[in-house]
Amino acid sequence: MAIEHKDIAGIREDYVKGILSKNEVKSDPLKQFEIWFNQALDASVTEPNAMVLSTISVNEFPSSRVVLLKDLQQNGLSFFTNYQSQKGKDLDNCNRVSVLFFWAELQRQVRIEGYVEKLSPEDSDEYFASRPRGSRIGAWSSPQSAVIPDRDFLEKKVERFAQDFEDSEEIPRPDFWGGYIVKPVKVEFWQGRSSRLHDRIQYTLEENGTWIINRLAP
Ligand SMILES: Cc1cc2nc3c(=O)[nH]c(=O)nc-3n(C[C@H](O)[C@H](O)[C@H](O)COP(=O)(O)O)c2cc1C
Repeated sequence: MAIEHKDIAGIREDYVKGILSKNEVKSDPLKQFEIWFNQALDASVTEPNAMVLSTISVNEFPSSRVVLLKDLQQNGLSFFTNYQSQKGKDLDNCNRVSVLFFWAELQRQVRIEGYVEKLSPEDSDEYFASRPRGSRIGAWSSPQSAVIPDRDFLEKKVERFAQDFEDSEEIPRPDFWGGYIVKPVKVEFWQGRSSRLHDRIQYTLEENGTWIINRLAP
């Protein structure tokens, strides 16, 4: 039995907003990423730092969710989360991830594969301290990814931690919460083109530390 829906098959966009060639890209994919990220900012893309992070779960299924890119360093991309969440457990078990950005307004996609490492406690402290007070209390209150009885359970926890920290300007970072850095080994820049003949430029990290750049068929 078919599910009633509007014409999904008829949703079709022709991609005409840009082109990408091998000779125009930077030799370092993170430098190229920086250029595209800045262009996404200039184009007022909605939440350009939202990225789909896929982990390999303990039961060996890929598992995806959105997290926010919080820093771009020379050697990788960082994000923050609860270390005891599902993704935290996945990453304890297997540090290989994939990250995906889709910037619809620019008809662009960036795919990254790499290894994650935990950020230093100092780097996590620094970012935690920059978060709004409500988010810091939220981090203490949410046993991320655990089954909870109801919304009330969460709100009671928030009330409790708000009271605990009532008299302190500073809220320490819980040790179960912090950052990771994704260090890429493969990066692909995808620019949508007309008639589905898209541009795909892929970087692969060689053992000697150099990046090989190839064009892939769309
Ligand atoms: C736009 C957006 C941004 C998000 N940013 C984060 C984030 O930076 N860190 C995080 O832990 N979860 C973030 N989430 C929630 C995650 O998608 C996810 O629900 C949560 O981390 C639990 O995932 P897990 O059970 O696989 O560990 C975000 C969700 C959305 C839709």
